Amino acid sequence: MERTYLMIKPGFLKYEKQIEKRINEIGATVTHKKKMKLDDVTITKHYAEHLQKPFFPELKEYMQSGEVLAMFVERDGENLVADIRKIVGSTKNPEKGTIRHDFGIGNITKNVIHASDSNEAAERELNIFFPELMQGKEQ
Ligand code: PPS
Repeated sequence: MERTYLMIKPGFLKYEKQIEKRINEIGATVTHKKKMKLDDVTITKHYAEHLQKPFFPELKEYMQSGEVLAMFVERDGENLVADIRKIVGSTKNPEKGTIRHDFGIGNITKNVIHASDSNEAAERELNIFFPELMQGKEQ
């Protein structure tokens, strides 16, 4: 079983059902989810690699402007991270038919949803948002 982390961003939780349907269409399942507001500690851990980027203050302010939906996603087989990123679409120029294109507003920060970009990132991010599920759970 492979697993990855997705997070619907503030203002886009109204698309939860449609987004989950697209996840299900590639044979994956949202096995756990949590609605929450991101505190400073969580946001700093999650975006650790972006703390020094010029856009970080804007990203932080937006990500704390409303609730997010943290999702633990699983699927049997291989390439879950890549397949999820395919249906999510790219940050800067999401293609028609992707989640970011179809539910988005063409904004690089408010890009509907975050998705882990590698298996390592998925493990790191799932540990931040679902620590209670990760204890002793080997990949
Ligand atoms: S980068 O520059 O390649 O590291 O960026 P990327 O991995 O594509 O995006 C990382 C997250 O930062 C947000 N982002 C931005 N916000 C504001 N302004 C600019 N220019 C910008 N570039 C990237 C983007 O929404 C990504 O958030 P996540 O949660 O990962 O989707």
